[in-house]
Amino acid sequence: MTLIKDNNYLNTRLKIKYIQDHTQTSDNGFDVIQGLTQQPKILPPRYFYDEQGSLLFEKICDLSEYYPTRTEAEILQNYAQEIAKYTGSCELIELGSGSSTKTRLLLDVYQSLDYPLCYVPIDVSGTILEDSAKQLLNDYKGLQIQGIVGTYEAALQMLSSRSSSSKMVLFLGSTLGNFSQTECDRFFAQITAALQSGYFLLGIDLQKPIEILEAAYNDSQGITAAFNLNMLNHLNQRFQGNFDLSLFKHWAFYNTQEHQIEMHLICQKSHTVYLAALDLTVDFQEGETIQTEISRKFNLSQMEQYLETQGLKPLQSWTDPQKWFGLILCQCR
Ligand code: AVJ
Repeated sequence: MTLIKDNNYLNTRLKIKYIQDHTQTSDNGFDVIQGLTQQPKILPPRYFYDEQGSLLFEKICDLSEYYPTRTEAEILQNYAQEIAKYTGSCELIELGSGSSTKTRLLLDVYQSLDYPLCYVPIDVSGTILEDSAKQLLNDYKGLQIQGIVGTYEAALQMLSSRSSSSKMVLFLGSTLGNFSQTECDRFFAQITAALQSGYFLLGIDLQKPIEILEAAYNDSQGITAAFNLNMLNHLNQRFQGNFDLSLFKHWAFYNTQEHQIEMHLICQKSHTVYLAALDLTVDFQEGETIQTEISRKFNLSQMEQYLETQGLKPLQSWTDPQKWFGLILCQCR
């Protein structure tokens, strides 16, 4: 099903497509069934982002402990000019656009250079996408937006069949860190298929002392805990479930072997959960965990080498003075 919502007076500058992906396992809850029937249990991180989860994530980005957002913004602020010099005028396609706050730093520069502004935000949360798109249209007079509400897989498949003005795909915030190595390989195959030629801007969180990493995922206000637990709320609503959030606790730690933060929900008491829309009954033992996220921390030069093997040629990389976060601009060939 594909439908286009036109928003009256804005409709010449704003188009939003809601897409569903029938070829993937991702929209019918099959991934939930798979994850909750395996041992140890696991759930895909994209289920964090219902409306409430997207709002909680925005709050995380403002936390003093959560350094990635402000560090990446600082790098973009400093080097957006250089990025624009490399790419010239191009359409900006953003995977996981969320509030599009950091994107504004690029739009500002492209606007100042008189490049035509064309933006394709892609996000699984339709409300966030619509709200931020409308704010952007207010703030950037010449901007055209063609948003896509759906998963990356579905959106990239759609993009590959679309016409070919010059493009740059933005994948910021170290969302790549959510992917295992196998998922990374698959993802980059989809990127190069969708891009053919064009640019790819990747933001990655870098390896750093464990205290800083663990503090970022165990904030003192408990926002990250609420964000983690909210995934169960989302599943309750989406699949008519009866998860009791008070029976689970947030747990996040840095796995030094794997160079990744792992987030889990730990069951506090043995009980059974039922998800009616999936006709799925799940038993939980006391102390049992559900892994909700991995957040890998990378080495910049290793990532550059890896991208090269994936058909993306790194043109230049930028970091902050502490080397906590990296931005890599690649060319697709
Ligand atoms: C959006 C996946 C980059 O891994 O840091 C923030 C999500 N999880 N706090 C991250 C997240 C807990 C975030 N990413």
